[in-house]
Amino acid sequence: MEPRMELPSRPELFDFRGVSMTHFFTDNWENVQNFKARPDDVLIATYPKAGTTWVSYILDLLYFGQTSPERQTSVPIYERVPFLELIVPKFVERLPTSPRLIKTHFPVQFVPKSFWEQNCKIIYVARNAKDNMVSYFHFDSMAMIEPDPGDWNNYFQRFMQGKVVTGSWYDHVNGWWKKKQTSPNVHYMFYEDLVEDTGREIDKLCSFLGLSPSEDERKRITGGVQFDKMKKNNMTNYSTHARMDFKTGSFMRKGRVGDWKNHFTVAQNEEFDEDYKKKMKDPTLQLRTDL
Ligand code: A3P
Repeated sequence: MEPRMELPSRPELFDFRGVSMTHFFTDNWENVQNFKARPDDVLIATYPKAGTTWVSYILDLLYFGQTSPERQTSVPIYERVPFLELIVPKFVERLPTSPRLIKTHFPVQFVPKSFWEQNCKIIYVARNAKDNMVSYFHFDSMAMIEPDPGDWNNYFQRFMQGKVVTGSWYDHVNGWWKKKQTSPNVHYMFYEDLVEDTGREIDKLCSFLGLSPSEDERKRITGGVQFDKMKKNNMTNYSTHARMDFKTGSFMRKGRVGDWKNHFTVAQNEEFDEDYKKKMKDPTLQLRTDL
């Protein structure tokens, strides 16, 4: 008989400064808060499952696709663009490159102050709440670093209450949107726009970052970051990650807009929409709910 691979036990969710977290996100709190950002660091900030890996890969290709091609075939994307909250301070030594590409799921108020003091470029990616919830549910089912999601009905309620890792989706997207209004160094983008026209969104990213790839390079990147390519690529599909239970699902799951329709009941959709209206009061933040 094959030896059974032991998966680690799941962490507990607890309240940390008003936000639901697990110890993975808080163990390094002091180090993370004292992190010395450099002016050329680029931070990718997202609520979990909003397209973090996709944008990480786009940025990695834009910055290092030409100069370090071996990086693309030998280092998984989650090491090329590591988590600020999970592996500080170890990752600093592993990132000799400039710029350092770093990702975070922190709500805006948890970002270490040096990123603001150094005027670092920050890219925030938001995804419509319904698809974000569905993607998060499936991820939590397979990711042993996450609390057990329970069944869908239970998860649906927990998501609306913000009882998932990194807290309320509503607070997250609203908090970052508010910050963007006074911070020209924050580029706020949407997963649905990336799906609609990846090339256009890469152009916007380039103008924000002051990059000018050649037309060939731009085409190569736009083609290379499409869902099917990333799903087949072992350096971007998380297949090398030790803490995922791939019997339960895949990290590169569907990559679609509107999959929520396969999960929400009619009653859940009504309940959700009513709650959404109450929590999303800023008319300037236009997240797609019609898809
Ligand atoms: P689904 O679960 O809906 O498929 P994150 O990187 O923040 O964890 O987000 C993961 C989600 O982004 C998953 O959504 C994944 O499939 C999707 N994704 C990753 N790369 C993508 C791509 N190239 N095109 C579309 N969706 C992508």
